[in-house]
Amino acid sequence: MKMVRTVGEATLEPIVWGVIGFLFALLLDMLVFRGVFIERRCRKIEDINRRFIDALENISNLASCDISDEEFLDRSLNSMSSFFADVGEYMLSIFEEGKWNVVSTKGKNIHRFRNLKFREEDFTVPKDTKFLSTEVEALKYLPSRIVREFLTSGNRGAVIIIPLRFFENAEGILILRKPYVRMSFQLKEELKMAHQLARIIASFYSMRRLLKRMGKFHKSVAIAFTRAMELYSVYTKGHSERVARYATTLGEKMGLSRETIRRLFWAALLHDIGKIGVPLYILEKPGNLEGGEYELVKKHTVWGWEILNQIEGMAEIAKIVRHHHERYDGRGYPDGLMGEEIPLEARIIAVVDSFDAMKNDTPYRKALRAQEILKELVDNKGKQFDPMIVEMFLELLKKDITMLVKREN
Ligand SMILES: [Fe+2]
Repeated sequence: MKMVRTVGEATLEPIVWGVIGFLFALLLDMLVFRGVFIERRCRKIEDINRRFIDALENISNLASCDISDEEFLDRSLNSMSSFFADVGEYMLSIFEEGKWNVVSTKGKNIHRFRNLKFREEDFTVPKDTKFLSTEVEALKYLPSRIVREFLTSGNRGAVIIIPLRFFENAEGILILRKPYVRMSFQLKEELKMAHQLARIIASFYSMRRLLKRMGKFHKSVAIAFTRAMELYSVYTKGHSERVARYATTLGEKMGLSRETIRRLFWAALLHDIGKIGVPLYILEKPGNLEGGEYELVKKHTVWGWEILNQIEGMAEIAKIVRHHHERYDGRGYPDGLMGEEIPLEARIIAVVDSFDAMKNDTPYRKALRAQEILKELVDNKGKQFDPMIVEMFLELLKKDITMLVKREN
């Protein structure tokens, strides 16, 4: 049939094509704009992560240095403050024995506060990190002379207040002065990271003081290490202590010596302490980890080894911690050890650690059912796990079925 074009259609056609072309160009523009936006955001995150890791490495190195506690605080807070490019001044006050003591400062005018004591009611520790730009807000947490010095003298600025928890119920408040900028995606990320860095500094500081006071490694310090980790990540709560309990019960069933069981207990209790160096957003990420993130998580074995290896009398325990993610078939990390090259205690911890992780909810997976857990253990005999240890553990579970079915979270 012959097509007949009317006058009206002939006039409309270029307009329709014009509109389609315009919409297409608009869509293309939006896609390009969105792509650029996402790329910029990724670059910002990468930059923040790089600065975070640099600061973390500095702080971890300082933790093992032979320097006074005061110097440790000064130098690690300095590293932390340089995480923000534009923070030049800070002050840390710690509440101990009924008084607030200013223990570390940076900045010419702030320095005169050092060693001053304040009354209990002078500071209020907020629950979360705060970014404050007005005097009224700041006065809720800080004494007026500090607010004057940090916020209202000189150029318009803002203060960041970070709460800190130390052991033995001491708490602290870290105040940083920053030029005023509007709250942005980047600032929000930086505040989260700074909060984590401050927590790590507080843990290391407490650890150093406790170790010094006790003169040697002690059970309560190990518990304190574990608690620090639990404070850092709620998902690890109770995990280390359960792993230590399962490991020692299994060690006893295997007829190991008292000395080996003692090592097993400490290593199991501290096996994940190196995770304190892994950014929280990675530890608590609900989905799969990306390549770089997984590589960072894997470092917790070496970081745990580094922390413990510098403590007198802990070298063997540090070695077990280092190897608790090796696999029997040699495909584990960090050193790819195989079979009996892996210390016996680390092979035991590998089984009970996985058992506890399968039995409880984690950020990336719901708890498995009893049958699924048993299947995983059996399927991984000779692959991930030492087959003899799995056999012994299965026997133990048969005898004490509550270990398998009782939910502990
Ligand atoms: Fe681990």
